[in-house]
Amino acid sequence: MADQVSATEAAAVEALGVAVARLATDGATTGVEETSTAAGEVPAHRSHDPANNAKRTDPFMFGQRFLTQEDNVFEYNAWDHVETDDAFKEYAEKQYELQRSAPVSEFDKSRFNSDPARWWNMFYKNNTANFFKDRKWLHQEFPILTQICEPDAGPKTILEIGAGAGNTAFPILARNKNPLLRIHACDFSKTAVEVMRADAAYDTKHMQADVWDAAGTGDDSMPPGLGPASVDVAILVFIFSALSPSQWRQAVENVARLVKPGGTVCFRDYGRGDLAQVRFRKGRYLEENFYIRGDGTRVYFFEKDELIKIWTGETAEPETPVEGDRDQKVASTEDTQPFMTADEAPFALEDMGVDRRLIVNRAMKLKMYRCWLQGRFRRK
Ligand SMILES: C[S@@+](CC[C@H](N)C(=O)[O-])C[C@H]1O[C@@H](n2cnc3c(N)ncnc32)[C@H](O)[C@@H]1O
Repeated sequence: MADQVSATEAAAVEALGVAVARLATDGATTGVEETSTAAGEVPAHRSHDPANNAKRTDPFMFGQRFLTQEDNVFEYNAWDHVETDDAFKEYAEKQYELQRSAPVSEFDKSRFNSDPARWWNMFYKNNTANFFKDRKWLHQEFPILTQICEPDAGPKTILEIGAGAGNTAFPILARNKNPLLRIHACDFSKTAVEVMRADAAYDTKHMQADVWDAAGTGDDSMPPGLGPASVDVAILVFIFSALSPSQWRQAVENVARLVKPGGTVCFRDYGRGDLAQVRFRKGRYLEENFYIRGDGTRVYFFEKDELIKIWTGETAEPETPVEGDRDQKVASTEDTQPFMTADEAPFALEDMGVDRRLIVNRAMKLKMYRCWLQGRFRRK
């Protein structure tokens, strides 16, 4: 998890000599690359106006360092909006074949899928609240959070889903000036909820942390203290990837029930081809794009179109399939519930972008490509 690098993965990356501190930062950019950018309009390795190329050294300002053909890639630790090069694509394809050739056994599949919260509980027992870096980029990436934290914004409710140790909720709370703001921070891991409640910044005037499974059904389909259409902004940061494809639809329906018409879902998660996916080795593959980490937690890597389809029912224009390219397909396994149609779907797309970053190990001359998806959906 760049943002969520598990201890094991972090160790693996460290072994590669990567600047782990950099990998573990929030991974947010100051501007997400819209993939509508025509590939042919810019030279290779550059997806934005080079006039904006800051080539900056500030490690917490992202989205502004654009690699041009003239640049020496090993001059800086990280570059933004970089498409993968051929060597990485080839390496990724080999890795995917290797992963598929040695999937998780049926026994282990049911061990990991039957009670996923158990593995997250262990994760939070083994890691401190500081494991995930505070997401300081939230207001920059989702300006609506700034709006609803203004002193005169009136009564507003945020629901953070899969809140973990509170690394999103607490930074929002810290910047809040709205006396009528409520943040409900939910996670299905009771250990995570205990971590949040024990935090010195846990202020019950504005915040309520509860155990809730985002894919819960029946009486469990809504978190404690929240009713239908009660939420102005729902935040899902690196939680949707923890669900199995068979849970996506239920989770979207649950979020839809809670969010007010016109309300917003702020979303960030892993993109297909992220280094975290590519570096999985044998024995980690659950199903296409879905893996089990060394610590027993699950992670899915999304295509942009797939994500839009899940939330809005909208289908992208069909592309000409590339022969033999099974990586183009979106998840559809036997237990995957059908996607909603655009008419059925409760959300409309506000925006969805692909955020790519090239992390460079200058000493070892290694290039590592990260990929995240970020966007917003609006409740119809
Ligand atoms: C990768 S962590 C991200 C935590 C937090 N959003 C952040 O960015 O720091 C994923 C979180 O989702 C939670 N999670 C996974 N599946 C969930 C579910 N079905 N319902 C609620 N929370 C879930 C996990 O317990 C974990 O805390």
